[in-house]
Amino acid sequence: MASGIAAVGLLGVAFAIAQTGSQEKPLLAEQAFKNIQVLKGIPVDDFMETMGVMSASLDFDCSDCHVGAGTDQVDWPADTQRKIMARIMITMVANINKNNFAGRQMVTCWTCHRNRDKPLVTPVMDTIYGTVTIEPDDVIQQAEGMPPAESVLDKYIQAAGGAQRLAGLTSFVGRGTSVGFGGFGGGGDVELVAEAPDKRATIILFKDAPGRGDQIRTYDGRTGWVRTPLNVLGEFQLSGGDLDGARLDAQLSFPGQIKQVLTNLKTGPPATITDLPAPSSQSTLQKDVTLGQTHDVDVIQGNGPRGLLVTLYFDRKTGLLLRELRYGNSPIGRVPTQIDFADYRDVNGVKLPFRITYAWLDGRDSIVLNEIKTNVPVSGAKFGRPAPLKAQ
Ligand code: HEC
Ligand code: HEC
Repeated sequence: MASGIAAVGLLGVAFAIAQTGSQEKPLLAEQAFKNIQVLKGIPVDDFMETMGVMSASLDFDCSDCHVGAGTDQVDWPADTQRKIMARIMITMVANINKNNFAGRQMVTCWTCHRNRDKPLVTPVMDTIYGTVTIEPDDVIQQAEGMPPAESVLDKYIQAAGGAQRLAGLTSFVGRGTSVGFGGFGGGGDVELVAEAPDKRATIILFKDAPGRGDQIRTYDGRTGWVRTPLNVLGEFQLSGGDLDGARLDAQLSFPGQIKQVLTNLKTGPPATITDLPAPSSQSTLQKDVTLGQTHDVDVIQGNGPRGLLVTLYFDRKTGLLLRELRYGNSPIGRVPTQIDFADYRDVNGVKLPFRITYAWLDGRDSIVLNEIKTNVPVSGAKFGRPAPLKAQ
């Protein structure tokens, strides 16, 4: 308990970040939940991201720390050994960063845990002398001898249709289906709508089970909403890093403005990325069974809305954007969200991706479009708060 109280002050830095990221007063974790001792003062969506960072870092799922998670009997507020340990660790991490790194988040759960419950203590011979697994820096410095980021972006703009055509793209509506990972979220009807310069909505509805599996993400240029069945919160208004991320996604829907949207650009060393494998019901939620295709890419990093850190990967061959990796904030480290773009097709002179795969810390989903119409009228209501659920 004592450590919990101390941590409230220690987490002040993260708290300040979360607060400036909000448009209206966001719902805070301690208002929404019953037993919050250390992660106070952060909006609920950042709180859930924090749960994601802990799960991912230790290769846990929610049920490793929470009684009955994944069942109808779940008791989130109840304390378990591991939950208590996690609180101690949150406070420890805040202290390490405060006392040694001037409060910068240099040490996170991942620093030690690396996808396992007990961190390794001893150097591993196989790692020292064996094949190197490549783990590129997450924060990129301008690499020597690499072209300026501007030229990579110019190549992209050219590849996507050229500045003039892209300037003429004012809206689009795509339709298709969702593809599930691990048996979740497949077979829904997808509607992807975007309006320049900064509105976007992804609406996935399940005809056979109305309301139950729906996933809706909206951003109207100012506020954003998420409704998803796999989330404790059900439906919530975005704040903090999620809101900035939604804004960036909306802006990047219109590639012609990419140079205005991003600042502080750097080109990293050339890299190779591997597609997330085509989803199948065989693959589990966490691990890839088969690996996808690899691509040589140019890597650019910059800042988006309110300084949001984002890394973009462009196909060296085609110049097109293959991956967006953006980082939200949490009190215990950055929160990655990865969006992969594939199957680019020409729609009235503009190249648009027909397959989009989202991966965040505790889930993935993929949408496959079979048609996109450009410059069609779009109802403004699409981008607002999702319509209330129909009675079931
Ligand atoms: C490593 C352990 C750990 C994992 C894994 C974990 N949590 Fe937590 N969770 C905690 C701790 C610790 C708290 C209390 C935080 C505090 O006291 O500030 C908490 C609190 C919560 C609460 C608030 C409960 C209440 O009413 O007080 C919810 C909801 C929650 N977690 C959901 C999740 C979900 C969903 C996942 C899986 C994505 C998850 N947690 C994974 C450790 C964990
Ligand atoms: C400085 C290194 C370090 C960091 C950073 C760190 N941990 Fe740990 N953690 C450890 C060590 C070492 C153990 C094993 C302790 C033991 O076995 O007695 C451990 C154990 C744990 C356990 C118990 C696992 C089990 O065996 O059931 C949990 C839960 C945990 N850490 C959560 C976290 C969370 C959450 C974070 C980030 C907020 C974090 N840790 C950050 C070093 C670290």
